Amino acid sequence: MNDAAPNAAPQTFYLKDYKPFGYEVESVKLTFQLSPNATKVHSAIRFTPKADAEDNRFFLHGEQLSLISAKIDGTPVTARLVDGGLECDVPRTSFLWEAEVEIDPAANTALEGLYMSNGMYCTQCEAEGFRKITYYPDRPDVMSTFTVRIEGDEPVMLSNGNPTGAGEGWAEWHDPWPKPAYLFALVAGDLVNHPGSFTTKSGKDVELNIWVRPGDEGKCAFGMEALKKSMKWDEDVYGLEYDLDLFNIVAVDDFNMGAMENKGLNIFNSSCVLASPETSTDANFERIEAIIAHEYFHNWTGNRITCRDWFQLCLKEGLTVFRDAQFTADMRSEPVKRIEDVIALRARQFPEDGGPLAHPPRPEEFQEINNFYTATVYEKGAEVIGMLKRLVGDDNYYKALNLYFERHDGQACTIEDWLKVFEDATGRDLSQFKLWYSQAGTPRVKVTEDYADGTYTLTFEQSTPPTPGQPEKAPRVIPMAVGLLSPNGDEAMSTKILEISQEKQSFEFQCTVEGWRLKDCEGPERISGAPHSKPVPSILREFSAPVILERETTNSERAFLLAHDTDPFNRWEAGNALAKEVRVAMVLDGAAPDAAYLDALEKLVRDDEQDPAFRALVLSPPSQSDIAQTLHERGHTPDPQKIYDAAETFTQTLAQQLETSLPRLYAATTVEGPYVPDADGAGKRALNGRILSLLTRLDGGEQAARQYASADNMTQQYAALAALMKAEKGEAQSKAFFEQWQDDRLVMDKWFALQIACAAPEATAATAKELTQHPLFSMKNPNRFRAVMGALAGNHAGFHHASGAGYQLLAENLIALDSVNPQTTARMCAAFQTWKRYDSERQAQIQAELERILATSGLSRDTHEMVSRMLSA
Ligand code: PHE
Ligand code: ZN
Repeated sequence: MNDAAPNAAPQTFYLKDYKPFGYEVESVKLTFQLSPNATKVHSAIRFTPKADAEDNRFFLHGEQLSLISAKIDGTPVTARLVDGGLECDVPRTSFLWEAEVEIDPAANTALEGLYMSNGMYCTQCEAEGFRKITYYPDRPDVMSTFTVRIEGDEPVMLSNGNPTGAGEGWAEWHDPWPKPAYLFALVAGDLVNHPGSFTTKSGKDVELNIWVRPGDEGKCAFGMEALKKSMKWDEDVYGLEYDLDLFNIVAVDDFNMGAMENKGLNIFNSSCVLASPETSTDANFERIEAIIAHEYFHNWTGNRITCRDWFQLCLKEGLTVFRDAQFTADMRSEPVKRIEDVIALRARQFPEDGGPLAHPPRPEEFQEINNFYTATVYEKGAEVIGMLKRLVGDDNYYKALNLYFERHDGQACTIEDWLKVFEDATGRDLSQFKLWYSQAGTPRVKVTEDYADGTYTLTFEQSTPPTPGQPEKAPRVIPMAVGLLSPNGDEAMSTKILEISQEKQSFEFQCTVEGWRLKDCEGPERISGAPHSKPVPSILREFSAPVILERETTNSERAFLLAHDTDPFNRWEAGNALAKEVRVAMVLDGAAPDAAYLDALEKLVRDDEQDPAFRALVLSPPSQSDIAQTLHERGHTPDPQKIYDAAETFTQTLAQQLETSLPRLYAATTVEGPYVPDADGAGKRALNGRILSLLTRLDGGEQAARQYASADNMTQQYAALAALMKAEKGEAQSKAFFEQWQDDRLVMDKWFALQIACAAPEATAATAKELTQHPLFSMKNPNRFRAVMGALAGNHAGFHHASGAGYQLLAENLIALDSVNPQTTARMCAAFQTWKRYDSERQAQIQAELERILATSGLSRDTHEMVSRMLSA
């Protein structure tokens, strides 16, 4: 073993230090002799020095490996074990490196490298896990073909690519596509498959399989359909075909992330692939469909074209998230998907961008790359691509993408390569646009309007607050989608993309015989002298850029847009902004819930012409964390308890206002007949669930208890249970739920999380603490840990309760988890990232907890980096 000394100063890696590896890796042959505590890995790797190889010594990454022997061209050699790997003298011509190492998969609770989950062997190599399997140049720009032999007594033994042979106790695989080591995968265990097949557009038959533990066979059908839809969609929309004869998906219970795009052998957290109507909610189904698509789409955007180094992570992740969002929009509802994504962006990425962990989509330094699988890299990375597409237009976008696949297939690329294809395809200079990749922080765009002599003017001023290491920001290119409405509610100018590129910039609009148009643009003749009134602007339609819009406007204008805007996103946004204003007034001034807003909501909920999914979204209140953020931005210190109280008062008042219509609405939105997880049904059930939660505040839980008793699907069972628990009336149902589902891990995660999510602020930490003592709680299963600790951090008023008990409990559990699973610990530390929003007592409490974590002896590099960043900003 050659683990780094526990207190060695953490090393920082920099983008500017990039150097190519000095050797080509011609081929890799691996032999695994599986054994839970002593797996032997033999590697045979052909290296050829590049022309400019500097010396005759090479370095291979390796961690937690016991080196048994090493040979070059058949002759034993002595390798020097150094920090993070080994060094060895090598010939100046092509040579065969062979090494034998021993590893301990059963002891691997970090779930990185080769590990065991419920008796099954599996791997996770992204980003730098392959070095825990054998010595190797573990970097994404080193690509090679892999041949793998697995020896063991597991009934099913899988690796990447195509099977080339199998017999009693062994199986062999060959992957013809050169790939970086992070895409390597191996799975062995007692598994059963749900088979399927797909014929590509050029007529190739592909065998598909979803591999699961016996007992889970019944939860694969939906995932299989999602996979086929994804394969078809990528052919239809991007012209991209699958490139092997076989595509395997494996479900694993213990997994740090959602899923992994290993070539031909995707490995999934079981929560992201297993689905059945009885055990999964509509939200689960939608998420599973999206993640299956995401991993499948990586085959081109990630695998065929990968990243040169890990600083370029958003090259594959931003693009693949963008593609999976397009897919979901096509499969379901485009506006609903957009609204959901913006809610998630504001909930997860904006706080990151506005706090101590802020970093650009392409970071320039890191200590532990696992800490950069963030909302900024993924979701903001996808937003940047959405902006690019808006700026160049759809046709140019697909032209550039075709060029990208043509030019870079088989390569490990950079953001520069990516932008260059857009420049070459469109002739556009993207140097200023590129700032989106290098500057952190969410731009604020202040909008003012002016109306005189028939000319309407919008003026935009952009600025971005300082972020760690970036005190000053240059103005960026912002595509601002704007439409104009007439005071009677008609659309007076359809959506235009205004390109903002300066710090301050104005756009003028003129009235024509056919409505409004941009000044100096081709178009119908201008009306001169005729009286016309100021239009109502609809700005940042479709959320055309990830910015914070600042505009002084009135609640009546917001209500007007909520009723009339032709852009569904902005209609929702108007309602959301109104809801926030009402909450803020309640918190700051003790105001009563605004009557006009309640009326507008009532009108909308009762309007059966409107899409139920949209109505459900408008009825979903802004999160309490969002209100805290809004108050903070306006210079107030948020009081979590007051925000909670305002939310309760508002919802109670809304329920009372709707009292007479609730039973009718409930009945009208109840979906009868067998459960189908489609978008229409899901929209209706979402609205039905919102109505049930309001009704439960008034009817003593009668209707919810009835729904709970009769539900034949998890969406309705869960909605009923949640409504009851929120009203403190669900004790019997919670017990029954446990009895019914205690053997189903994924459903049990819901049971753990829901109790904490529904707890009152003063009871949240105690509820969570009790659940950590439950026999089914486990530090070793990331899903279970997240169910409990994630729910604690997600209960805003409970986590931030003045007692500090929430902070304390989370810190204790993070300290305990760190030695078991550093990656998940570090990721969950981010729950503290908003700490500077709050009052000085809370800040002091959080600071003390962060310092306590940092003082833990033997703290992982992952957690050390996250906590230090949060403390030093
Ligand atoms: N690359 C995976 C994805 O985006 C995420 C992942 C990262 C999984 C690191 C495991 C480890 O789909
Ligand atoms: Zn991904």
